[in-house]
Order: sequence, then structure tokens, then C-alpha cells
Amino acid sequence: ALVVGRRVRSRRKWKRVVGVLKELEESCETTVGRLKQVVDAMAVEMHAGLASEGGSKLKMLLTFVDSLPSGSEKGIFYALDLGGTNFRVLRVELGGQRSDLDPDVEQQPIPEQLMTGRSEDLFDFIASSLYQFVEKNDSVQSPITKLLGFTFSFPVKQTSVSSGVLIKWTKGFAIRDMAEKEVAGALQQALTRKGLNMRVSVLQVNDTVGTLALGHYHDADTVAAVIIGTGTNACYWERTDAIIKCQGLLTTSGGMVVNMEWGNFWSSHLPRTSYDVKLDAESPNPNDQGFEKMISGMYLGDIVRRVILRMSEESDVFGPVSSRLYVPFTLRTPLMAAMHEDDSPELTQVARILKDFLDIPDIPLKARKLVVKICDVVTRRAARLAAAGIVGILKKIGRDGSGGITGGRSRSDIKMRRTAVAVEGSLYTQYTMFREYLHEALNEILGEDIARHVVIIVTEDGSGTGAALLAASHSSENVNNIQ
Ligand code: GLC
Repeated sequence: ALVVGRRVRSRRKWKRVVGVLKELEESCETTVGRLKQVVDAMAVEMHAGLASEGGSKLKMLLTFVDSLPSGSEKGIFYALDLGGTNFRVLRVELGGQRSDLDPDVEQQPIPEQLMTGRSEDLFDFIASSLYQFVEKNDSVQSPITKLLGFTFSFPVKQTSVSSGVLIKWTKGFAIRDMAEKEVAGALQQALTRKGLNMRVSVLQVNDTVGTLALGHYHDADTVAAVIIGTGTNACYWERTDAIIKCQGLLTTSGGMVVNMEWGNFWSSHLPRTSYDVKLDAESPNPNDQGFEKMISGMYLGDIVRRVILRMSEESDVFGPVSSRLYVPFTLRTPLMAAMHEDDSPELTQVARILKDFLDIPDIPLKARKLVVKICDVVTRRAARLAAAGIVGILKKIGRDGSGGITGGRSRSDIKMRRTAVAVEGSLYTQYTMFREYLHEALNEILGEDIARHVVIIVTEDGSGTGAALLAASHSSENVNNIQ
């Protein structure tokens, strides 16, 4: 009788866990209908953000980049890339013809104390890295004036292509003395402190803008770029007359790249769970970057951790509650991807990761399957929301096929220009399931006839290389190339 009693109890507990999973699935639901509402909301917010300063949670920031690289650029250019998990310095030689770029790149993780310390220390670290890198490749004493591409992947209110102030930090950076400071100016001062004799003037861009530049260098149909890595964001090519908040903005090309800062997008149509609410409340930037917190690499693993914690508290499926489960960010997104993609019959990867990182040893196969399912639900929602965001941009610029019926009746009569979107970031490139879910959702939302004309191009290291390309196309050595 005792054994039967225990079995009944454990069945009841299992039932409770299944209930938690079901609730998660329901609150993460992204039907095509709902995604289309997100698409519409994105397009509406884009209009609002362009209409007036503060008109939307989407900042729609001007970048002053009014021409994109075409392939004809020549010369040697450097770029710095700061804003994700790693910091990069790179050098690229351009021969005047579109070609496979093969930049020299050096990469290092950003020491954690620099992310929350003093701005001077952060910029000194950047300047030293550049100094050492230049010393290795060219002469640090060369008196030439160089335009240096500087990718700074945070929201910046720019006043020109080489100046702007930080609006706020995202992705766990929190350096207090940066508020209202000129970002490129801070870098220039650090370069001077370091004694880099190479006279540098800085061209400052967001990582999305670098990615768009690299995409456009390879494929002139590229109109937008999306990053899905530690954080998430997008930029696109907009007509200046649509940027209503900046009346009289004139560019030779008639257009300008707009940095959307879509990580901060919000809509009541977004499927939000109690885990998202808690994650946000406990983050260093509550009420901020809501879209980013549902999509990007910094957060997905932590959503999964929260679900496992709740299940563990409500049942004994995961054994006694591990204290590690209470530690934010212990379950990094790459580990989550590895568990999600474990195709061994016994789910040995899942078992190993749970044991090594969450201190949850020896759980039955059934419970391991549950973990895989949680990863699936969280990733699927993220990828599908990112897809809806992309279609939102296409809709805003009239490339979603909705306006292009040419008198014919059938969908195949729809005229649609080939449209390329450059995508980059570890979630998209390293997480197969994420990528597949994103593509699937694009097809579902657009319909296959339209989706056929939308090409996703994966750029590699666009945030860095693209900034070097922009430095090239904006430097006096090269004629500005107009779209
Ligand atoms: C964050 C930043 C944004 C950046 C994105 C991707 O959302 O605010 O500027 O583009 O991360 O790195």
C-alpha cells in the first residue's frame, strides 16, 4: 500500500509539472494570426518613431549614414567593434572590386569589471588593443590620417556620422559616467592618451549598420540588417522624406540608414509569460528592452532556468531543488542550444549540462525530455517574433508584397522586387533550431510566393568589417558611393 501511495503521489507531481509546461506553451503561443498583429504593430511603431522624437518606444535613430559600400572601395582600413560579449579589432584590405573579404581579426572577451566600471578604463582598454594591433601590422608612428570604423552597439543619439551621445546602456553594460558623453570623443581622447601617432578620425556606427554595409557590399538589394546575438536590433534604409521628425533632412542619395533599436519594441500582442515579467523586474534595466528580453542570447537561457526552477519547486522531478537554479544567468544560451539539439537517444548532453551547470544529477529520461521541450518552446517563440519583426520592416518599406498586386487575381501575379536582409549574430548562425523556426515563420507570415523574393544573407562579422567598409566609403580616398 505504501508503494502504491508513493506512486500516486509522484504521478500527481508529474501532472503538476505537465501543467506548468502547458501553461508555458499557451502563454508563448505565436499563431500566424498573432504574428501578423506583431508585424502590424511593428510597422505602426516605426511610423510613430519617425514622426516625432519620443513618439514611440522604437527610437528610430538617425545614423547619418547616407551611402552604403558598393564594392569599389580601395585601401587599408581598421575597425573596432564593441558591444557584445567580445571586443574585436580588425584590418581589411580593399582592392577596388567586390571580393571575399578576408580581414585580420583579433578578438577577446571584454573583462567583466570593465562593463560596469569607469568609462576611461574601458576606452583605455580599447585604445591599447588597437595600438598593439596596429603595431603588429603597420607602423604606429605613421603620420597618416586614417578614418577608423568604430562599431558601438548601443543606442546613440548621433549628430553626425562621427559624433553622438549614449542614450542608455543595454546588455548588462552599466558605466555610470558615460551618460551624455560623446562616445567617439571618449575614444579619441583615449587614443591620444595612448600616443597612437596615427591620426585617427572616428566614424561611429551601430552593429546593425555595419552589418547592413557588409550586406550591401556583397548584394546591392540589401535593404535591412538584423542582429540576433547577445542583444537584438535592426536597421534599414529609409527615404529621408519619411523621417518626418527631422524636417529638411537632405542627403544626396535621398535616403539614410535608420537604427531602429527594436530591442525596445513593445506591443500588447507580444506573448508574455510570468517568467518574462520576473526576468525584467530583476534585470538591471527594468521596463526596458522588452522585445530583446524575449529574443536575444543574453536572456533565453535565463528564461529556461526560471521555468526549470518553478518545476523543481513544485515537484521532485528534478530531485531536491538545486541552489544553482536560483543564480541568474547560470544557464547560458549556448548550453541551452546544446541541450535543445541533443539528438542522442538517452539525451546524454542534457544530462551532462544539467549536472555540470545546474547541479542537477541523474534525472530520468522523462525529465530530460521535458527540459528539451522547454528549450523548444522558448526558442520557437523568440525566432518567430524575430521573423515578425523582419516582416514589420518589409511592410513599412512596401516590400512585404501587400501593396503590389498588378491587376491580376492570383497571388502569383504579385510583383515583388528581390529584397535582401542581412542577418547576423550567434543565435541565428550557431543555433540551427532558432534559424529554422525563423525561416519557417517568415514563410508562414509572408506566404511562399512572397517569401521566395526575400533573401536572408548571412554576413560574417559585419558589425566589424562593415564599419571598416563604411570608413572606406566615407574616406577621401574613395568616392562616396550612392545607393
Ligand atoms: C542592443 C543594443 C543595440 C544593438 C543590439 C545588438 O539591443 O541596444 O544598439 O544593436 O543590442 O547588438
